[in-house]
Amino acid sequence: MKVRKAVIPVAGLGTRFLPATKAIPKEMLTVVDRPTIQYIVEEVVASGIEQVIFVTSEGKSAIENHFDYDFQLDTVLKMKKKNKMAEELNHISNLIDIVSVRQKKPLGLGHAIWSARDVVGDEPFAVLLGDDLVLSDQPCCHQMISLFDEVQEAIVAVQQVPLDQTSNYGIVEGRPYNDRTYKIDRMVEKPAPGTTESNLAIIGRYILLPEIFEMLEKTKPGHGGEIQLTDALLQLSQQRSIYAYEFKGIRFDAGDKLGYLKAIVAFGLRHADLGKEFREHLKQMSETL
Ligand code: G1P
Repeated sequence: MKVRKAVIPVAGLGTRFLPATKAIPKEMLTVVDRPTIQYIVEEVVASGIEQVIFVTSEGKSAIENHFDYDFQLDTVLKMKKKNKMAEELNHISNLIDIVSVRQKKPLGLGHAIWSARDVVGDEPFAVLLGDDLVLSDQPCCHQMISLFDEVQEAIVAVQQVPLDQTSNYGIVEGRPYNDRTYKIDRMVEKPAPGTTESNLAIIGRYILLPEIFEMLEKTKPGHGGEIQLTDALLQLSQQRSIYAYEFKGIRFDAGDKLGYLKAIVAFGLRHADLGKEFREHLKQMSETL
């Protein structure tokens, strides 16, 4: 089976980023020259996926508007001979087919994914969390789809983190399978310090099978009183193999103030037009400040 759809949960309140996110969705915060959500959608497009499913909540219409065609703006830009900008905006609105579903209650990531069940249907799908930006040569999601084409089982992206940070993540324990890949034995959402020896942390990229929806339906609230995707995956791992994949690239937690700042620096340094000058500027600043 081929991965054709990607679910992107965007219903979260963004409380870690207040006051910046009081009146705008956190997904619309800008990294260099585009909102973080655009990087995620561009990763999906570059991974060969055909449809994006946003799981939204109230107050998130700016995200849908960003990817929509704006007739008025297009007309004004063309009138003012700003054709290049008009073209760029049209490119964004033509990136990919996008549909939205609502998460009716804020019951956690697992519940958000479950909310997309009717639109996903009976096929494998990718999940990308908007807080996690990945800088890599080959898009992270694309790397995972290549592995999926081989194993045809669920995959979670992982990275090694210092042991004193494991309680911030879903953690997987597993046996090496082959290069960068593990077969998962156990997984736990935000383990208390000292309760796991594994430092393999889940980052926000998953390839899931439709069987996950049944599991999510049965999953009781877990860590933080929320329905956790990690708990549903653990249940599924008792019936089918689940793989953890150490992706190639650098991940930034753009939902956190410091992580966001680091993302801006990294994406700024890599920017085709601005990178060179920005690098010089950073050098100067680090010597001056
Ligand atoms: C979610 C997942 C967690 C994962 C993390 C990665 O947690 O539940 O397993 O490690 O994303 O960003 P959140 O950060 O949304 O609390």
